[in-house]
Amino acid sequence: MATVAETPHPPKILHTECFIDGQWRPAVSGKTFETVNPATEEVICEVAEGDAADVDAAVKAARRALESGPWNRMDARDRGRCMYRLADLIEAEVDELAALETLDNGKPIRESRHADLPLVIDCIRYYAGYADKIHGSTIPIRGNYFTYTRREPVGVAGQIIPWNFPMLMTAWKWGPALAAGCTIVMKPAEQTPLTCLRMAQLAKEAGIPDGVINIVPGYGPTAGASVVKHPGVDKIAFTGEHRTAQIIMREAADTLKRLTFELGGKSPNVVLADADLDRAAKGSYVGLFLNQGQCCCAGSRVFVHKSVHAEFVSKVKELAKNRKVGNPFSIDTEQGPQVDKAQFDKIMSYIDKGNAEGANCIAGGGRAGDRGYFVQPTVFDGVSDSMAIAQDEIFGPVMSILTFEDWEDLIRRANNTFYGLAAAIWTRNVSNAHEFAKRVRAGTVWVNCYDVFDAAAPFGGFKMSGQGRELGEEGLKAYTECKTVTVSLD
Ligand code: NAI
Ligand code: MG
Repeated sequence: MATVAETPHPPKILHTECFIDGQWRPAVSGKTFETVNPATEEVICEVAEGDAADVDAAVKAARRALESGPWNRMDARDRGRCMYRLADLIEAEVDELAALETLDNGKPIRESRHADLPLVIDCIRYYAGYADKIHGSTIPIRGNYFTYTRREPVGVAGQIIPWNFPMLMTAWKWGPALAAGCTIVMKPAEQTPLTCLRMAQLAKEAGIPDGVINIVPGYGPTAGASVVKHPGVDKIAFTGEHRTAQIIMREAADTLKRLTFELGGKSPNVVLADADLDRAAKGSYVGLFLNQGQCCCAGSRVFVHKSVHAEFVSKVKELAKNRKVGNPFSIDTEQGPQVDKAQFDKIMSYIDKGNAEGANCIAGGGRAGDRGYFVQPTVFDGVSDSMAIAQDEIFGPVMSILTFEDWEDLIRRANNTFYGLAAAIWTRNVSNAHEFAKRVRAGTVWVNCYDVFDAAAPFGGFKMSGQGRELGEEGLKAYTECKTVTVSLD
């Protein structure tokens, strides 16, 4: 286990205040909160702690920008050009932004630099290309009329994001909102506010007019809840825990806001007897351990056919034991710390439950090092469906391996969860792959791969894993209202 050295070139902290109407401002209350480096447990800096008063100012700025001013009158093609410029500015600062993300979140620098950032840039460019391609249709109705539809921006979008992919979640939310002509009030996660704030400044430099993007850092029950309740907000796009989404849905009822949710999962990852086992083991390992296991779509229930179970387990165990955990700024580090103490404690409690309920811990099982929120890559074999580690979202580097023999039984067990975000299957049999894809209740199905994401491919959950879709054309639609216009031709 490598010790956690300080980063040799600490990224610059340029922005720590609320970004409202194109200006940097302290919170009205004057309050601040600490953001912490999870690799060292040291405070990075203080950030403005926004609340209802700051959210109100942000919403007013967003409404003004929506209803009058340059954004509202801007040609759609010019809106797209602002977005392309934003992507270019992010690309020009890619090393600095990756370092800032790694500092605040703890993810390994090679992932923030070579996975998160390229996806951020690609997402903004993808939606920039959509800005001037949003249109309705002409509809033949009965009688002498001309009927057409218009796709208009849904309005002010309240966007509440989590800490596991701070910049990428910012891009997933801004891309379709800006393309559609919406304006934004965003609340970043309290654990990881820094890159979102930096992106806001780049958006201003890219020519996105004041008031179009507003950022209010702060806590969920205060700043977040104020966004949800504000009557000047038309839509909430939320990513996070399903219990938070339930609160948001209740609190949004008074103003009947449009809601899109991207929530958690307990995704089944199935290894059939005919799978390429090296590939399946490597893919299952990445599908669970990526991003310290802090992925909504993590393949956290690994179902392995009994006939290949022993061989598969030995391969995964080897990979987990060799995973390089340590200083996230070292270029060869594969796993950094969990994002904060709360997540670290939650994961350790699930490891305790796995042991107490009789699962067989074959790798890891403890803390790594003595400073920072590092958890050893952990694999439990002999897991049964009723155990807590097979039912609850752990959101950490803990894999649960279950065995199966019968196909129908497998399908039933794969679907036996209130989640439905993602699923994967490893097989050489095309019929089984497609039958599984059809019968599994999940928004994304990967066949012989895992964690393949693209700005063009819709992503979201069945059941309690979400509502609506992000990315692709589906994701864009969630930021538009359809208006029907009928003209008498008599
Ligand atoms: P959370 O759902 O509480 O936080 C996500 C965002 O919602 C943050 O910006 C937070 O400040 C905000 N928020 C919290 N309460 C709110 C409220 N009442 N009104 C408006 N906004 C509110 O998730 P948390 O507590 O960070 O993590 C808990 C668990 O949730 C994790 O262990 C994991 O299982 C799951 N999770 C899932 C994510 C996903 O990508 N689907 C992301 C983060 C967490
Ligand atoms: Mg919470």
